[in-house]
Parts: sequence; structure tokens; C-alpha cells
Amino acid sequence: MHRVLLLGPDDEARRALHLLIDRRGLAVVAATELATAQKHLADADCDVVMAPPELALEVARALGRPPVVAILRTRDAAMSRTLLEAGIDDVVLEPLDEIAVSIALHHAASVKRVPPLPDRSELSDTPIVGSGPAMEKLRATIRTVAATKTTVLITGETGTGKELVARAVHASSPRAAQKFVAINCAALPEPLLESELFGHVRGAFTDASRDKTGLFVEANHGTIFLDEIGEMPLALQTKLLRVLQQSAVRRVGDNAELPIDVRVIAATLRDLEADVEAGRFREDLFYRLNVVPLQVPPLRERPEDIAQLARYFTKRYAHRHQREVVLTDEVVGALSGQTWPGNVRDLENTIERLVVLAEGPVIDTALLEAVTTVRRAQTPTSPVDENELSIKKATRSLEQDLIRRALGVTLGNRTNAAKLLEISHRALLYKLKEYGIS
Ligand SMILES: Nc1ncnc2c1ncn2[C@@H]1O[C@H](COP(=O)(O)OP(=O)(O)OP(=O)(O)O)[C@@H](O)[C@H]1O
Ligand SMILES: [Mg+2]
Repeated sequence: MHRVLLLGPDDEARRALHLLIDRRGLAVVAATELATAQKHLADADCDVVMAPPELALEVARALGRPPVVAILRTRDAAMSRTLLEAGIDDVVLEPLDEIAVSIALHHAASVKRVPPLPDRSELSDTPIVGSGPAMEKLRATIRTVAATKTTVLITGETGTGKELVARAVHASSPRAAQKFVAINCAALPEPLLESELFGHVRGAFTDASRDKTGLFVEANHGTIFLDEIGEMPLALQTKLLRVLQQSAVRRVGDNAELPIDVRVIAATLRDLEADVEAGRFREDLFYRLNVVPLQVPPLRERPEDIAQLARYFTKRYAHRHQREVVLTDEVVGALSGQTWPGNVRDLENTIERLVVLAEGPVIDTALLEAVTTVRRAQTPTSPVDENELSIKKATRSLEQDLIRRALGVTLGNRTNAAKLLEISHRALLYKLKEYGIS
């Protein structure tokens, strides 16, 4: 791949991304609007396009366009899925780091070589990995509840696999052949969330120029997954409760009710009982949702699953990045002994980094240490003198500190240190000279 087309407003984030791609030795062309980018697209002189969601979608509709990577401002699973289903080739999250960008570009470029992307909804056929007692118990509960239509409330910390569990319930239910529709209740402001969920009729409010089918109707006979239900505004909670009680929805601005048959699965990382106490969540809705509570335990309560998960993710990412790498037993042991504040997602990200950064066929403890040290280094423990207010001086001192640490964990290997520092090898050599570090 040679040339990246950066599309979107010329702001700080875009300039940072420009630099980042530059540093990878790729050419960048930038355009603020689709119109100005048309020529590049028409001449097919760019190999991949990166753009914010709306623009990315517009490019994706163009005929014969190159692979498109959408840049999201905030994590939003529902939005990511929508984008991927609309033909976007990959999605990255801001703030972007060099590894994330190279992974996405690599991805997008491989899409071009092997046309149709094999599977866009990866989560839907990710198996639930882990055979410790906690996961076995969870699996048994999933099987039992799947057979019925009861409402399920899934709780668990971030990254524990709540969405995966929701999909598994649907997939093992008699509704498996019907739709699974997911929405993140935290991602939309109240009026939008309301019309997403329930739909609206034309003219219901100023922007309603067309009728809109809500997700409840779209999910009819299937399952609706209400993610981050704890973030739903109180007024909507009342409407949702009515829908659940009556098995019918009324679109915004409509008088008639449509009967629906939808299985509801909700998830939250909040303590909803405490929210009920505090008056932030309707008690009656809580009971209505909490018919079957499913708790997904954090990874620290099931360390026995870590080895299996680590090996599974290694295989998956090795395949995705077309690398042949394995973990040594020591690495698996070390991973199992770590605490994972971000749970399975955290472990998954770490493994992906390891796979991408591995130079030979084995991922060993030196590389693991390097990667985890960087992770720790990202949580600020300031090496900068408290009394130092000059940004210039403070930055220099921080830089020197990071460079020393990177060289430490890579045992002086400058190529690897540069990777960890996310700067080019050349830039590192320059800085070493400048700071007199040897
Ligand atoms: N048991 C598991 N086996 C395999 N992959 C898993 C497992 N649990 C989680 N994952 C993976 O970890 C990532 C996070 O899972 P998921 O999105 O379901 O978590 P979540 O609880 O919904 O997180 P959040 O609260 O942040 O939305 C996904 O990529 C998922 O595939
Ligand atoms: Mg989730």
C-alpha cells in the first residue's frame, strides 16, 4: 500500500493522524470534502481512505472505490456494526495510535487483495471461550434461558463479554433465524434514541421528513439487545416499560399501536439496584427486565480461563494479520498472573499488539514485558519535576524518560524501542543523539 486519502475536517486530530501515517512512510493526500477528493477516487490513485463516519459512508457508496476505514470519536459498538454492515472495511477509535492505524491500514489493504471481506459481524460467531467453572455455569444458564422468551438482564464490568453473551442467547434460541438488533442506549441523545427504538411518523417533529420504522418493529419475532440500559433517560424508561407490558409499540406521532413479539435482552455495567435506590432507574422497569439476571464475572475471578483465551486470540489475530506466531508457555503463565482491568477486551488488545509486534515466530516474555510496560507507562506517573511549568522542558524530560524505559525493556534494541515509542527508527536515533543517551 502506498497512498492514504484522509478525508474530513482539517482539525488537530486529522493533523496528528497525517503525521502518524507519514511516519509509517506512506504518502498522504488530504481533502476536507468528498467533492475535492473525487479526482483521487476517480483516478484510483489512493489505496485506502480514512474518514469520519458520514463521509466514510458516502465513499463506501461510490463504485470501484478503495477500502474505507471509518474513524470514530467514541467507542460505539452499534455504530461500528452499522458501518461495517454498510460496507466500511474497518473502524478505528480516536485517539489513534500508531499500532491501531497500522492494523487498520493493513486490514483494509488485505481486503483489497481478497475481495469480499469474509465476515463483517465477527462478534456473532465468536465462540464463548473459557471452560472454568464460572463460564461453564454461565453457558448452562444461557442454554436454559435461550429456550424461553424471558427477558434477560446481563450485568458485568466493561469488556467481560456481555454483548457476546447476548448474542449467544439469541443464537441458541428458537429465534436464531430471526433478527438480532442491537442498540447502545448511551450513544444517542434522548429524542433520537426514542425514534430509533420506536420509530416515528412523518411530521412528528421538525426533522421527520419520512416515516421511520423503529428497532422494536425491525426486531419483530427476533431479539432486541438494549445495551447500556442504565443510561436510558427516565422518560424513555417509562415508554419502554409500556412497550414491554403491552407487547405493542406506538411510533412517535402516531395514534395506532403495532403489536410486536420481541425478545428483550438488556445489558449494563452499572449497579441498577443502586440506581433504583437513587431514583435514577425506574424500579418497575428494573423488575421487568431482571427476570433472569445473568452475571458475567470479571476476568480476575476466573484466571483459569486466561490461558485458553490467550491462545484463542493469538490464533485469531495471527490469522488476521497473516503471521505465524505462538505464545511461549511462560508468556501464557505471565498473562494468567496479570490483573486485567479491562477484562477480556483488554487481554484481546494486548494479544493483538503482541502478534503485530512479534518479530519471529514466538512471542516471548521480553516482548510481553515491553508491551505491558508501555501499557503501564500510559497511566501517568509523572517523571516531570512538579515545579516545571515550561511545556518544552517538561516534554523533553518526559521524552528522555520514555526513551530510557523503552530501551530498558527492549534490552537496548533500538528497532523495538522505536516501535514501542511509536516513532520511527530514524527519529529515535536523532533523539538519542540529541539527549546524549547511548
Ligand atoms: N469468553 C469470551 N470468549 C471469546 N471472546 C470473548 C469472550 N468474552 C469477551 N470476548 C471478546 O472480548 C471483547 C469484548 O466483549 P463484549 O463486547 O461482549 O464485552 P462487553 O461486556 O459488552 O463490554 P462493554 O461493557 O465494554 O461494552 C469482544 O471482542 C469479545 O469478542
Ligand atoms: Mg458491550
